[in-house]
Amino acid sequence: MRERLNALRLAALEQIERAGEPARLEAVRIAYLGKKGELTAILKQMGGLPAEERPAMGQLANELRRELEEALESRAAALNAALAAARLREETIDITLPGREQELGHRHPLSIVLDEVEEIFLGMGFSVVTGPEVEWDYYNFEALNIPAGHPARDTQDTFYITERMLLRTQTSPVQMRTMEQRKPPIRVIAPGRVYRSDAVDATHSPVFHQIEGLVVDEGVTMAELKGCLEHFAKRLYGEDTRTRFRPHHFPFTEPSCEVDISCFRCGGGGCSFCKGEGWVEILGAGMVHPKVLQNGGIDPGQYSGFAFGVGLERIALFRFEIDDMRLLYENDLRFLKQF
Ligand code: DAH
Repeated sequence: MRERLNALRLAALEQIERAGEPARLEAVRIAYLGKKGELTAILKQMGGLPAEERPAMGQLANELRRELEEALESRAAALNAALAAARLREETIDITLPGREQELGHRHPLSIVLDEVEEIFLGMGFSVVTGPEVEWDYYNFEALNIPAGHPARDTQDTFYITERMLLRTQTSPVQMRTMEQRKPPIRVIAPGRVYRSDAVDATHSPVFHQIEGLVVDEGVTMAELKGCLEHFAKRLYGEDTRTRFRPHHFPFTEPSCEVDISCFRCGGGGCSFCKGEGWVEILGAGMVHPKVLQNGGIDPGQYSGFAFGVGLERIALFRFEIDDMRLLYENDLRFLKQF
């Protein structure tokens, strides 16, 4: 038995030393110390020894077990240290390599112009409100003095969702919602998306943006409308910008007008951009129709107001002297990076 233990010791220690990876080392442990391992088998035979030999052999076997366990442990530690060292060697960072550049985006031209517009009106005491894009026919048309069958409905090719529900064709419904919720004095602008069943071309898109404006108070006059919009045009397009108010018709304002500004490209002399006119149209406006005030729960005998609607794409194209609206939606980085 003594010889067997000795032979086993030498073989086991050599295999432990030779094990080159943790899995192999574990296999060696099982082969000797596992339930069916060689040393375990010898220990089981201990009972067959003469009684006087048993204590000495038992001690020998137990010492061997401890020795093998220690050898396994220190070999495992050595293997792990070697693995960690190898990992450190492989994963060194070459600090001389150039860094990976993180490209930062920036605001879209439409957002830039919307920010500017909001800034200008906030400076005149307006606040910014919003309304839903899925809207009732009532707010989009009916309450704005555009009853069923009114010809103005034909000029706004509407996406209907149900007979009474639609995608708003203008931001004007926010006027109604605001009047229902607030008492005068009211000074708000309402930017947002609007929808019309139009084919895409250089000046049309089925989805675009408008900015609505509404002022209601006692004694508001057309003079205030003119002053406000003139200030807006000068702030957005420069102090030299001149404005021109032309009579027009909108069902929800009376009187109504369209506002032109002197062409920002030629200064008014006439060029290809303004088609020789010297003027370009930027928005529609007017004094809020008494019926519309009434529909909003405001007494037209006591209060008056003005309203306006601006196409955001249109003023952005003018602002950056771009002549094709599609550029604003295609998200071509070569275009967007210029702003
Ligand atoms: N909602 C009109 C449109 O989409 C624009 C407009 C004109 C709005 C005059 C107004 C206004 O508030 O007073 O064509």
